Amino acid sequence: MTPYLSDTDLPALPATRPPLAGGPASAANSPFAQDLLAALGSRPRSISPKYIYDAAGSALFDRICQLPEYYPTRTECALLQAHAADIADLAGPGAEIVEFGAGSLRKVRILLDALEAPAGYLPIDISGEHLLAAAAELRASHPALEVRPVVADYTAPMSLPAPPGGAGRRIGFFPGSTIGNFTPAEARAFLRSAASVLRGGALLVGADLVKDPAVLHAAYNDAQGVTAAFNRNLLVRANAELGTDFDPQAFDHAAFYNAPLQRIEMHLVSRTDQQVTVCGQPFGIAAGETLHTENSHKFTLASLRDLAASAGFSAGPSWVDAQGLFSLHWLVAPAH
Ligand code: AVI
Repeated sequence: MTPYLSDTDLPALPATRPPLAGGPASAANSPFAQDLLAALGSRPRSISPKYIYDAAGSALFDRICQLPEYYPTRTECALLQAHAADIADLAGPGAEIVEFGAGSLRKVRILLDALEAPAGYLPIDISGEHLLAAAAELRASHPALEVRPVVADYTAPMSLPAPPGGAGRRIGFFPGSTIGNFTPAEARAFLRSAASVLRGGALLVGADLVKDPAVLHAAYNDAQGVTAAFNRNLLVRANAELGTDFDPQAFDHAAFYNAPLQRIEMHLVSRTDQQVTVCGQPFGIAAGETLHTENSHKFTLASLRDLAASAGFSAGPSWVDAQGLFSLHWLVAPAH
């Protein structure tokens, strides 16, 4: 992850990449292959958005965060800056920050710089290489801070190292409205597991708000086509890692607001009748058929608080920008 790069800092992204060493045969048993086979073999066809995020997918997401249409990142950063002192008061001295997902260093830096003598920072991420690089960068700029990266899947039940001696409360940080990419059941399961590692502390979570669908539509259908490339990266990655034969340009990017379910849905829509081969299995895809690649749920203050309460948190203050685009929530973790 290299947040907040300018376009010129990023390498040009090829539509196809060379296959990884190990070859498609060893890839056939991977979770990605299994989930892609399951998705193509079922109706409606749907796969987890986590497969969009290889190095190229993460770089594309970093570019999305800088797009004029994509308001969440800059709005959340401004909220963090504006309310950093309140957040520091709530956290108290000597807090240990646990970030779920390596996240944006810029966001956690806003927090760390405002806190009184933070005892440590524990970023949790499944991507070890990425996490260790981010941790090294942070250590260099914050030599007094104890940075202890944990390579783990934060969506699975986790056990964390004990806080340093004399540490204050444990404060979780889950920015970016990543909570909206979970199904409601997954979001509840994540919050329950976060509650158990944050006992007696709190969770600061960023949540994108329900709003004018035109604003949402623009944010997920940017004029430069970066979100479309991000979406198609799932197919580019499948070709590179699994030896599949997708033509990414034979799929349109479609992102629209599903009002009853209060979520943006992202799909890849086949432009033509076509056949693809995944791990030796042929699949016909008719023109207009879609592969559902991501949901991005939007919240009201009440719906986010209800979700948090269902996982045992009690709601503290929430902060919302003047245009009502994005929210930050202080959620108090149960003591036991
Ligand atoms: C990471 N996540 C919160 C982003 C979102 O807005 O749901 C992912 C994204 N998808 C398309 N644009 C951004």
